[in-house]
Amino acid sequence: MSDPATDTVVRPNPDASLRATTGGEGGGVPFLIEGRGLRRVFSTGGVDTVALASVDVTIRHGEMLAIIGPSGSGKSTLMALLGCLDRPTSGTYLLEGRDVTRLSDDDLSAVRNRTIGFVFQSFHLLPRSTARENVELPMIYAGVPRRERRERSKARLEAVGLGHRLDHRPNQMSGGENQRVAIARALVNNPGLILADEPTGNLDSRSGAEILGLFTRLNREQGVSVILVTHDPRVAEKCDRVIEILDGVVTRDSGSVIPTHGAGGAS
Ligand SMILES: Nc1ncnc2c1ncn2[C@@H]1O[C@H](COP(=O)(O)OP(=O)(O)O)[C@@H](O)[C@H]1O
Ligand SMILES: [Mg+2]
Repeated sequence: MSDPATDTVVRPNPDASLRATTGGEGGGVPFLIEGRGLRRVFSTGGVDTVALASVDVTIRHGEMLAIIGPSGSGKSTLMALLGCLDRPTSGTYLLEGRDVTRLSDDDLSAVRNRTIGFVFQSFHLLPRSTARENVELPMIYAGVPRRERRERSKARLEAVGLGHRLDHRPNQMSGGENQRVAIARALVNNPGLILADEPTGNLDSRSGAEILGLFTRLNREQGVSVILVTHDPRVAEKCDRVIEILDGVVTRDSGSVIPTHGAGGAS
């Protein structure tokens, strides 16, 4: 049991929104995510690219879901919409029942910072900053006082098995360690939803398995909803639900395993 991915303990935060809670749907919030007719067309240099044609997707609190599909099929475009990093050309998107496409940019980034943690294939860490400084960044945006930032960044890094790497910079760590820093950063404001775009894409299989183990424990033990994009069938098969995208439309959806009534995914 020396594997950091399986030793990890992340403290629950019962206050976080978007979290699977007892009563879930009975509590008046029907779905975590409800997208209807999501369409995204990029217009550049007089050329229109339909990245998403029309996607309907309903995701419940507490799901652990994989989005798969070939390169260029629209996976990252969909993730950007789900994560409020982008707006659809048309269609509606409800996050916890709220139409986020109608929010101002400021309100949208507040929703994002408070409720969603992002993890990317290439980590997106600040290269000159230490692990701890990288993890502190979202808390600076959230206005968390310095002393608390110091404590939480240390605790989060310890929780992903990096208590011995607090002052290391990204180029002094392995890919797997960098991705664990990125996950610590994604979790530091206690989001109820993690969006990860090919999080194991740049990692060897052992590091990839550790990262997947972290996500699985977050989902099972903390009730955090996890949506990840992957090319790797071994990653997809560890998820409860798989959605396949091709040419900007959903071509297969294995369906939610979360019951319609009762508590969310975590037991
Ligand atoms: N900012 C953009 N401008 C123009 N075309 C884009 C842009 N982003 C993505 N696309 C196009 O949209 C399609 C879907 O891209 P993407 O969502 O990145 O696919 P995936 O993540 O599945 O590889 C591709 O044809 C891609 O070239
Ligand atoms: Mg992509």
